Amino acid sequence: MNLIDFDHNFFGRRGVLEVLKKRVMGLKEGYRQNVALLGNRYVGKTALLQRLMSQMEELEVFFLYLDLEARDFDYFAVQFTKSLLYNFLKQENLPLQEDLKLLCAEAKDLLPRTVFLVQAIEELTAQGKVVEAYHMILSLPEVFTQETGRSLVLVLDEFGALENFDIPDVFAQLGQRIMTQKNCLYIVSSSSPQQAQTILSEKLSLLFGNFEVISLEPFNFLEAQGLIDHNLNGVKLGLYLKNFIADFTGGHPLYINLLCQELIYLSGVYAQKEIYAPIVIAAIENVIFNPWGVISRHFELQINSLTRPKCAGTTVTLLGALAQGKHKISDLLESLKLKNSQVVSRINALQEANIVERNGNYYHIKDKLFSYWIKYVYQRRLRAIDLEAGRSRKQFKEEINRALNDFGLVARKDLSSRVADLMQKFDNESFVLCGRRYKLTSFRDIKILKLRTGTGNYFDAVSAASQEGDWLVVLKKDPVHDNDLSGILEEIKKLDPRPSRSIIVSLSGLDENAKVRALQEKLWIWDEDQLNSLMHLFDEPIIVR
Ligand SMILES: Nc1ncnc2c1ncn2[C@@H]1O[C@H](COP(=O)(O)OP(=O)(O)OP(=O)(O)O)[C@@H](O)[C@H]1O
Ligand SMILES: [Mg+2]
Repeated sequence: MNLIDFDHNFFGRRGVLEVLKKRVMGLKEGYRQNVALLGNRYVGKTALLQRLMSQMEELEVFFLYLDLEARDFDYFAVQFTKSLLYNFLKQENLPLQEDLKLLCAEAKDLLPRTVFLVQAIEELTAQGKVVEAYHMILSLPEVFTQETGRSLVLVLDEFGALENFDIPDVFAQLGQRIMTQKNCLYIVSSSSPQQAQTILSEKLSLLFGNFEVISLEPFNFLEAQGLIDHNLNGVKLGLYLKNFIADFTGGHPLYINLLCQELIYLSGVYAQKEIYAPIVIAAIENVIFNPWGVISRHFELQINSLTRPKCAGTTVTLLGALAQGKHKISDLLESLKLKNSQVVSRINALQEANIVERNGNYYHIKDKLFSYWIKYVYQRRLRAIDLEAGRSRKQFKEEINRALNDFGLVARKDLSSRVADLMQKFDNESFVLCGRRYKLTSFRDIKILKLRTGTGNYFDAVSAASQEGDWLVVLKKDPVHDNDLSGILEEIKKLDPRPSRSIIVSLSGLDENAKVRALQEKLWIWDEDQLNSLMHLFDEPIIVR
């Protein structure tokens, strides 16, 4: 059996890693661009930062990494000073120590000023003089880079936690130092994108040393498939089951890893060379349904951390209703029998906690698997009356089986049927997709058709009638080139009545000329990401190419 080596199974994220490496190299060449890496919890920020550091170990750059989540000031002071000296000694191939005093003794001759400052920081911290100690810590990078003549990359994971140190103007002070420390690159990360954006724009919007924001999302479909292959390392799994897992986990690397781990384990137990549906179902049951399954425990802790005792009931019922597909305040009010103010205040709190996202008037639980767990495991567990052994397990297995079959049925549908089904669900709401707002009217007479252009090419299309006129959606899986667009535009112009709105859905995008022309002609363009965002908003499985 070949279990996953969690320490060495980093996968993908090539684009972001390249950018970060470029920034580190830039620092060496005298060009500094600080970076803020923002993303939800467990999306892989720490894994990415660790990967960056391990890949750049050989370079003549020092890294100082601190994870500040749930840490106090003493930790910050000790870890900051220790890591700095430790990494220096490591790069110089000098004997390594874990104790601060021994580290100071070892580095004293080579870095007298740095060590002097470190000792002063230690003393101030021991006396509880936090503000003074913080001030000195912030000046340490500068002294260190002057003394070593080398650059320093400071990686502050969960930097927002500095706020908890009770130091006045904690970020403004940091910002002032960042501006003058030209030899130091700051890479900060945060699991609370909203809080981080506020700090960055209000406190760390600097004259020199501004932060470039990089958002880290769960894996897209291709990356998720790649991580599954990478994890299974030769154990066979059919494409349809792989696609199901990629969709079911919402592309979260953590869930993919944990589920794959269970798949490998079970395939060993049952001596199977290939993983078939019964093993996938058993693995999901073990990690998501069993109360002590890892993902189930993880979600339960998440629920507990969200539900302050006073309004625990409301939060749980609200999450339940969202998971059941009630996405608008009016629908939530109707199904929950709560007061408007109760729903609004709880949903705002869930938004602040990054559990719920809002698009137009729609609210969603961001994490697809969490939403699934609330609906099919947690709510049922709360509501179970009949405690007959094995009953709810049987029900869950049937449910997973159904989800697998449904996924298979939907995946076999062609693109035009999927889009037609989606359009059935539009209900006069506006949504923002990739930064652009779209008003999606409600439709009747939705028809699937073929559009034949003058050059003899056929395109799949969907037409639909609405109060604001007819819509035409033209679909293509391959890239749309300029000549395709000319043909499509010509046909649109011939239609009587002319569509009041035309959309080009291209899963592989449009070439530059075609894109410019389509926009000039006021066509909407949706690529795979935009279409899948809509699928997500309307609780439909994503499009699998
Ligand atoms: N690129 C990746 N390749 C493989 N596994 C990954 C990757 N990114 C994340 N993971 C998995 O997800 C888990 C959680 O990732 P990580 O701790 O880096 O997330 P995070 O965003 O730092 O979370 P937190 O907000 O809790 O700090 C990792 O332990 C790892 O198993
Ligand atoms: Mg982390």
